[in-house]
Amino acid sequence: MARKSIHGEWSSRWIFILAATGSAVGLGNIWKFPYMAGENGGGAFVLIYLACIVLLGIPVMMAEVLIGRRGRQSPVNTMITIAKEEGANKHWVWLGWSGVVAGFLILSYYSVIAGWTLAYILESASGTFAGLDGDAVGEVFNTLIASPGQLIFWHSLFMLLTMIVVARGVKEGLEKAIRFLMPALFILLIIMVGYALSTDSFVKGLSFLFTPDFSKITAEGILKAMGQAFFTLSLGMGAIMIYGSYMPHDASIARTSFTVAMADTGVALLAGIAIFPIVFANGLEPGAGPGLVFVTLPIAFGQMPGGVFFGTVFFVLLTFAAWSSSISLIEPFVAWLVENKGMTRNHASILSGIITWVVGLGTVFSFNLWSDVKIFDKTFFDLLDFLTSNIMLPLGGLLIGIFAAWIIKQQSSIEELGMGDGPAYQIWSLLVRYVTPIGVGLIFLKSVGAI
Ligand code: TRP
Repeated sequence: MARKSIHGEWSSRWIFILAATGSAVGLGNIWKFPYMAGENGGGAFVLIYLACIVLLGIPVMMAEVLIGRRGRQSPVNTMITIAKEEGANKHWVWLGWSGVVAGFLILSYYSVIAGWTLAYILESASGTFAGLDGDAVGEVFNTLIASPGQLIFWHSLFMLLTMIVVARGVKEGLEKAIRFLMPALFILLIIMVGYALSTDSFVKGLSFLFTPDFSKITAEGILKAMGQAFFTLSLGMGAIMIYGSYMPHDASIARTSFTVAMADTGVALLAGIAIFPIVFANGLEPGAGPGLVFVTLPIAFGQMPGGVFFGTVFFVLLTFAAWSSSISLIEPFVAWLVENKGMTRNHASILSGIITWVVGLGTVFSFNLWSDVKIFDKTFFDLLDFLTSNIMLPLGGLLIGIFAAWIIKQQSSIEELGMGDGPAYQIWSLLVRYVTPIGVGLIFLKSVGAI
């Protein structure tokens, strides 16, 4: 049963944890989680999100790693191999392909937002934010997103950075960088929480985030909380599956998944705790939308001692976090091109980079030229985000869970998870067999008003 990945293997269990955390921790935690929580009423959203992490996210992550490590190939080929091995329907391969599509679509807008963080490195370093109030900081942001030229420039630069690492191979490109960047980001967030403590709205911020008021949540809010849980853990499209395929055989899947989920959740909550006090202290709108981090934290950098330094470092680290996430979005396709088309990693990266870059232009324009073009009442960016985070990822995650728990024989999953068939295995099995499909199903039905 000892298949080997042709793309290499992480040198230890720790490196897998670092890489998977690198994938999980990104814009989803620091940019998306706060604005989603802000738009959807705070506490209740956060509570549902946390419940989704524990009940759906961790079990699906284990399922994804399990499948990946068993198949040891790109998700598409892994699905083919395992489906054949387990005597299952060959159409399971479509699960691999839908993940590839989701990865492209997500990366296309992820890169545009990561471009904003790149632009903000320059703004911070040049002292733009010094002494600015909320309105002035908002102006800086609005000017940036109103300019297609600037957004295209930063989007292109970020895509280029991503493709360079992808071309070098995930292992070599990633291992060194993440080792100290993740902890550094964590420390900087704690410093920002320290600043938030010094505002007079710390308690108000906390209570917004942690006091659930269920009258403020809608069916769509519940769907978004679930989508956010999948998005932030990088689940449902094969990213964690392919990272699992590089995982050494003796590492514990349950323990590593748990560690990754905890680190990821910790970062998201810290970001929220840092941001909302600033929102309230400056009379800003919690529901300000995708610009939220970019119009709040710079106020803090503009006021705190050493703000130019901290601001610059913060946006550098955020760019790195985005970068280690974006790699995992494209890796499933790149690995497939290498496996099936005999391409070099260089060519595969260039090809996928170009496709993503072009689709990304839609997101660029949705903030300016096309901001009035609405489909289902959503801009191109909103629609893309909604379709991927709230539909494709939960659906993909649900099917991955079903595949791991119903299609792969129990004996094989027990062997792969390596934690025996005791209570831990039984709980996992119960969660992926029943809780995930029923939970995701109910939330889907509720969001379309069927229940
Ligand atoms: N989880 C990352 C974040 O929070 C984004 C990401 C990377 C992702 N790989 C993914 C999201 C795969 C969904 C699927 O920023």
